Amino acid sequence: MKKQFDFLIIGSGIAGLFYALKASKYGKVAIISKEDIYNTTTVKAQGGIASVMYNPDSYDKHIEDTINAGAGLNNREVVEIVVKEGPTRILDLINIGTHFDKDEDGSFDLGKEGGHSENRVLHFKDKTGQEIQRALIHEVMQDPNIFIFENHFAIEIITQHHLGQTLKKSSPNIECYGAYIFDTKSKEVFTFLSKTTMIATGGCGNAYQNTTNPVGITGDGIAMVYRAKGLIENMEFVQFHPTALYNPAERPSFLITEALRGAGAILKNHKNEDFCLKYDSRGSLAPRDIVARAIDTEMKLSGEDHVYLDARHIDKEKLITHFPTIYAKCMEIGINISKDLIPVTPAAHYLCGGIKTDVHARTSIKNLYATGEAASTGLHGANRLASNSLLEAVVFAHRAAEDITDTQWYSQEVFNKIPEWNDEGTIKNEELVLISFSRKEVQQIMSNYVGIVRSDLRLQRAMDRLNVIFKETEDLYKASKVSVDICELRNIINVGYLIIKQAKERRESIGLHYNSDLA
Ligand code: SIN
Repeated sequence: MKKQFDFLIIGSGIAGLFYALKASKYGKVAIISKEDIYNTTTVKAQGGIASVMYNPDSYDKHIEDTINAGAGLNNREVVEIVVKEGPTRILDLINIGTHFDKDEDGSFDLGKEGGHSENRVLHFKDKTGQEIQRALIHEVMQDPNIFIFENHFAIEIITQHHLGQTLKKSSPNIECYGAYIFDTKSKEVFTFLSKTTMIATGGCGNAYQNTTNPVGITGDGIAMVYRAKGLIENMEFVQFHPTALYNPAERPSFLITEALRGAGAILKNHKNEDFCLKYDSRGSLAPRDIVARAIDTEMKLSGEDHVYLDARHIDKEKLITHFPTIYAKCMEIGINISKDLIPVTPAAHYLCGGIKTDVHARTSIKNLYATGEAASTGLHGANRLASNSLLEAVVFAHRAAEDITDTQWYSQEVFNKIPEWNDEGTIKNEELVLISFSRKEVQQIMSNYVGIVRSDLRLQRAMDRLNVIFKETEDLYKASKVSVDICELRNIINVGYLIIKQAKERRESIGLHYNSDLA
């Protein structure tokens, strides 16, 4: 069955919802949410949203910090746009009812995180993402022009390929007409047609074994655009958060916000040494690529699978009031953070690359936009500065919404020609367990060979292993009725392939991409 909207948004985190509120001024909006609208990576963001607010901070300092963290691979024009437009978008968030913590004098209580030269992280306790998501959902629910489809999963974006035309990779003439969307409850596939489509599906943390991302974050948007022959870049820059709680059976890994290090917590090894100082004079608050690699090295030296975060010297009241989520979570598993060391280990956290976009969030495919973690705007370079991602999402969601009235919209005739989803000849797959085995294999390959430290041999081995699973999965996909499990598996294989391929092509160690053969 066909459904037609003016604007289709795939993804319901900060990028998708913020864009929805802006786009709804121009027409009817459909939001596709893979699970319930609340279950997003945004909700997991504890630390906050970085933005220049007061002296002695300045745009220049934020710009330089972003470029230093990104090892200079950033697009300077984009960095300037995000930093300078950031404060206005923060006001937008406040105007829709988002709360950020304030000091007694009424000014914002600005936190500090790794790589920032000033305090500039607006936050709401240690649940900033939750607070932003709450405020956005509240607004979106009241907007009569916004229609929310929860438990709907995007299988493919629709292009001329579905009209029987052969398209060349990265051709500038590919057009997007919407997407095939699977209702995970009724098991029906709907054809969503739209004048423009926005990909806001987040990153791909679940291509790895341990990630701070929700389990449904499987690179869906990036994989769809790749299969539609759009441009994908910088996939080798996968950011591992240095401090996920070491609790091996837990999925996703629970984040211990960098803001805790900003408040004074220090990383220690098993000999109780403040080891980060051996690697960088900024110690535990050096940028994430440096800290994650330092932890990786220490774990390899000691043979242990975690290090510790020491917050015992921080005032107990401050721990409880500023970090209530972390305090409660650790207590739940028997760790009193005001008395005990917190065991931590790095976990896949954020993808700096993704779908290549311009300064209006346009992708290389016509009438297809991308924003948030799925997009590669050029802001992050080789390593994202902490808390820059929520800011990037709102700045580019706004820019995309300003741009949509300039795009050439399709005639009804074009939409009438789009075929419905065709699953003739497929069968219900009875071997679901094979899909979950393959998912685990992919995650193992990526973690073992394409993690924090890589080498030419490891990357080649990963590619060879992944190719085998790719062929098996494509055969299975073609023969099976659509399911979220098989689609997610295809997607993590596609993004895994892109990470490995682009890591092999990057012939230097820089930022988050560390190849020991090129060190
Ligand atoms: C954190 O709170 O440490 C994560 C925030 C981010 O990744 O920017």
